[in-house]
Parts: sequence; C-alpha cells; structure tokens
Amino acid sequence: MIDTLPIDIQQTSQSRIGELNLDQLVFGRTFADHMFVADFDGKEWTDLRIVPYGDMAFSPALMPLHYGQAIFEGMKAYKSADGEVLIFRPQENAARLNRSAHRLCMAEIPEDIFLAGLYELLKLDSQWVPQRDNYSLYIRPFMFATDEYIGVSPSKKYRFIIFNCPVGAYYSKPVKVKVETQYVRAAPGGTGAAKCAGNYAASLYPAKLAQEEGYDQLIWTDGAEHKYVEEAGTMNFMFVIDGKLVTPAVSDSILDGITRKSIVQIAKDWGMEVEERKVSIAELIENLENGRLQEAFGAGTAAVVSPISTIGYEGKNFELPEIKADSFANRVKAYLDDIKYGRVEDTHNWIVRL
Ligand SMILES: Cc1ncc(COP(=O)(O)O)c(C=O)c1O
Repeated sequence: MIDTLPIDIQQTSQSRIGELNLDQLVFGRTFADHMFVADFDGKEWTDLRIVPYGDMAFSPALMPLHYGQAIFEGMKAYKSADGEVLIFRPQENAARLNRSAHRLCMAEIPEDIFLAGLYELLKLDSQWVPQRDNYSLYIRPFMFATDEYIGVSPSKKYRFIIFNCPVGAYYSKPVKVKVETQYVRAAPGGTGAAKCAGNYAASLYPAKLAQEEGYDQLIWTDGAEHKYVEEAGTMNFMFVIDGKLVTPAVSDSILDGITRKSIVQIAKDWGMEVEERKVSIAELIENLENGRLQEAFGAGTAAVVSPISTIGYEGKNFELPEIKADSFANRVKAYLDDIKYGRVEDTHNWIVRL
C-alpha cells in the first residue's frame, strides 16, 4: 500500500514534541517537527525530501504573492486506542488538489508522490498524532508557484509541501450564522470549486462584518442572484427537512467536500432519503417558519459536523429546534468519529492505516 519513492530524509536534531501540551492547543498554531517538500522544475517533480519544519527564503517577485497561484488541502490523521495512525480518505484530497491545480493552471502532482510523502512524514512524526478523543493531526498539503517573474502568466515551476498541526475540537458550541446576500464567495464559472487561497481572502471581509453583528459564520448564497444557499463558511451546508437529508448539489461554485460526500454515503447506508439539489433561501425560511426544518449543520474536515443554532436573514434571526442527543448530526458525527478512530468496521475502505 505504501509506495516507496526516493525521499531524502533529514531528521531534526531538536524535536519539539516535549513542548506539546494538548490542553493548551490553539487550532493551527502548533506545528509538528517535519515537513515534506517536492519541487516541479518545469518538467518533472524532483528533490523529494523531508526536512525539519521551518522558514523558507523567497524572492519578493515570487509569482503567487502577486498573482495568486496557491492551492491547498486540509485533512486529518487519527490515533486508534492501540496506537495505530489512521488517515481518512487521503486519496480524495490528492485528487481534489489536482482538480484545484488544473483550474489554477498549475502543475498536477502524481498521487504516488502525494501519498508516499504523506506516509513517510506521518511515520516520522507519528508521536505528533494525539491519542485522545476529539483530537487529531490536521494535515496541510499545499502547492504554490515558484517562478520569480512580474507578469500575469502561469508559473513554470511549483513547490508542493505537507506539514502538520496537532489539533483538538474546532467549534465547541452550536453556531449562529448569517445568510449573506450582498457579498459573493464564488461566482458561476469562477474558482469556488477549487481550494485556492484567493477564495479565502475574498471571504474575510464579509465574514468580519457578520462577526461584528454577532454571528459566527456566513451562509454563502449563489453569486448570480443570491437566491440559493451554497456553503456555510468553510463548510458544506446540510439540512434535515422532514427526515430527509438535503444539501446543495456541488457545482463550480461549491467545494466538493469529503466530509459532505462521506455523510451523504452514510445517510444512504442508513436508509435515509438524500436530496442533492439547489436549496433556495425562500424554501429554507419557509421550512424554518413552519417547523419542518429539523436540523441544519456545516460539514467539513476541521469541525467535522458543526450544528447551527440560529440563522439570520435580512435582519431577522430564526432559531432552530434544540439539538437533541439523537439528532442526525450527532449520530453521523459519532459514527464518522468511530470510523476515523478505528472503533467500527470501515465498510467503505475510507481509512489508510500506516
Ligand atoms: C469552502 C469549503 N467548503 C467545504 C469544505 C469542506 O470540505 P472537506 O469536508 O473536504 O473538508 C471546506 C474545507 O475544507 C471549505 O474550505
């Protein structure tokens, strides 16, 4: 299963693992000892290496700093009760990174380099995968242009890196969201389905305005008419309406989330009806008012499942029913966690064991 490719390994002489304090973890601020690096020289991926995590020097003319050819992924590894490292669906992330690369006119990285680099890195840093409920190792693969050039054109050279952060739970309480009807995250024909840095930069200002109004996150609506809901912050958006799982169908303005895809599969396995289609704000508000909307939640790698307590729309707040212990969101999160920590049978072969 683990491909062996020539990866040069330069191990750190000063591991920081002794400083790791799981009780004080802030998401995304603690970095494991090593990182995997590979370079595309215009023709092929070369110089595969694992080096101590650390700073890099770059030219002020580095193209992505100006023209934005920068893409990334987010995924997690877990530690089972017997200490085994389990990675959730890494092939999906490799494939999505390459779809993003294609859209941003960047070099694609062969899946075997992505996976071999990841597996070698995790073997070396396996102590950084926390062995505690709700804790995991957040994995950040990313790629950026490395040509030094002023001029809008695709770079010829690229760098691919993977580094890791031990993390705990992302959101601790149900979130209050606001339906955004002025600003746009992604337009038809744009880059919304790609995980590129610019999408996130464009979301910051509207998210800040919503936070100033007391909301945690935004519900993005379609860029053409602001009529249909698309995503919940940096998560996919899901509802339970009349016992059915309903979620916006993926499109060129919605990121094809791996958590979303997994939840849709589990719901179908459980015999639940699933509708992947356009969901209008009008339908959402109507179902909120008539009580048919039983649950609303965000789904994504960081938070896994993030229940929504309040939806704000045009100055009015709609409260969702109280989240019950046996809600679909809670049950599916618990089941996904059981798969990820190796506590139940992995019937769909989603887990890679190191
Ligand atoms: C915009 C956006 N939508 C959805 C998701 C959820 O995708 P996944 O479940 O693969 O993490 C993410 C996070 O990765 C995201 O950034």
